[in-house]
Amino acid sequence: MIKSLEEVVPAALHDNDMLQDTLTIPSADFNIGANETTVYLAKKSGKVTAVCFKFIAPDGYSGAINMIMGVDRDGNILGVRVLSHKETPGLGDKIEAAKSDWILNFTGRSLDNLTSAQWAVKKDGGVFDQFAGATITPRKSVQATYRGLQLFKAHQAQLINP
Ligand SMILES: Cc1cc2nc3c(=O)[nH]c(=O)nc-3n(C[C@H](O)[C@H](O)[C@H](O)COP(=O)(O)O)c2cc1C
Repeated sequence: MIKSLEEVVPAALHDNDMLQDTLTIPSADFNIGANETTVYLAKKSGKVTAVCFKFIAPDGYSGAINMIMGVDRDGNILGVRVLSHKETPGLGDKIEAAKSDWILNFTGRSLDNLTSAQWAVKKDGGVFDQFAGATITPRKSVQATYRGLQLFKAHQAQLINP
């Protein structure tokens, strides 16, 4: 988790200990697998530059996909990583950064620079690739990431100015 956190929030964006600087927000309405979400705050000279939180795609091909995202204070994704999953090796596991670059395509995306329709795999009319013979895993990962951004947006004012 710590290694993943460092991958989704660049060190240059904070001078605080993010693990000790958290807010807990209600997330039951967002279908990301938890009623409450702990948000780690990245601060530079006391000002929030970015946040990071874990979220879950509850409905992967083989169950829950545990993910983490970093988001800058304006709502742009800094990075998404998969923490754990039970998807099929050789099919669904291309969501892992160690297996393919697919997950890096979230970086720079936001609710502002993609429409809700574009927040989908190409097969569904969106901008994200599916995998050959394995559409479910990337589809569900994209959908959960979108909902994670919606959670951020719903609490953005509080999170960037705690
Ligand atoms: C043994 C087995 C394992 C599979 N594992 C996955 C998986 O991990 N992720 C996935 O999206 N699809 C997996 N699939 C394929 C799905 O059943 C489904 O066909 C596919 O996701 C739909 O994508 P398509 O429209 O490109 O075929 C698996 C299929 C089989 C038979």
